[in-house]
Amino acid sequence: MKFIHLTDLHISAGNPSAALAGANDRTRRAIAEINSLHRDAELCVITGDIVADPDPAAYQLAEDLISSLEMPTYALPGNHDDRRMAQQFLSSVRVDENGFLQQLVETSRGTFMLLDTSDPETHAGRLCEQRLNWIETQLADRNSPVWVFMHHAPFPTGLAAMDTIGLEQQAAERLGAVLASHKYVRHLFFGHYHRPMSGVWRGIPFSSHRSMMQQCALDLVEQSHVSAIFEEPQYAVVLASDERTVVHYHDFAADADVGSMGPANG
Ligand SMILES: [Fe+2]
Repeated sequence: MKFIHLTDLHISAGNPSAALAGANDRTRRAIAEINSLHRDAELCVITGDIVADPDPAAYQLAEDLISSLEMPTYALPGNHDDRRMAQQFLSSVRVDENGFLQQLVETSRGTFMLLDTSDPETHAGRLCEQRLNWIETQLADRNSPVWVFMHHAPFPTGLAAMDTIGLEQQAAERLGAVLASHKYVRHLFFGHYHRPMSGVWRGIPFSSHRSMMQQCALDLVEQSHVSAIFEEPQYAVVLASDERTVVHYHDFAADADVGSMGPANG
């Protein structure tokens, strides 16, 4: 199976700043290239920060862009999203029985589980009791491959400022215990950090990559401020079979706007 992982589109409408207007353009270029080179992908998953700041016009533009992907596409919210507006405008999200934008997608390689770690009061990630219970229920007695997608990583990445707005530790611990105990979890994909990274957490391989906006510098020290850096945007092309998962990070669409992202808000 081949699928596409896109993250952190940060779409905006109206008169966006140069950095945000660039995000719109890069999203258009990414989608055009994916449609040209990877239209055989089975699906695409977008791991949050669909818009830069929630307003109806931004979500309508996001819906227009996302729906131009020539493959089934599924999305979850990030810290810049608004759950109610996302549900109203985005055909790629689904609401669970508790009102969160969590969903299961059945694919030829198993179940994709999309989680909602957003909280309207903070840029950090949250998983409340209802969401954690939903995850436990979905995994109970499931004995086929599960692929997990979320916005915030459930562990400190070492990116000092971004880790101040990671997933809250208590929820991360419980999620880790649940996922690690389920021997069929194949891979964890997330967004939020605007940087390529991969590794293993509690025995689960993970990967993330750059956004359609500015990227976060590799700063392992400064906690109070996210330094922006110009690096090319990326999407990932994932190849999965019984024996392997290969995540190809693909750079595209060079341009040049460099500046500060300001306080940590990823
Ligand atoms: Fe983001």
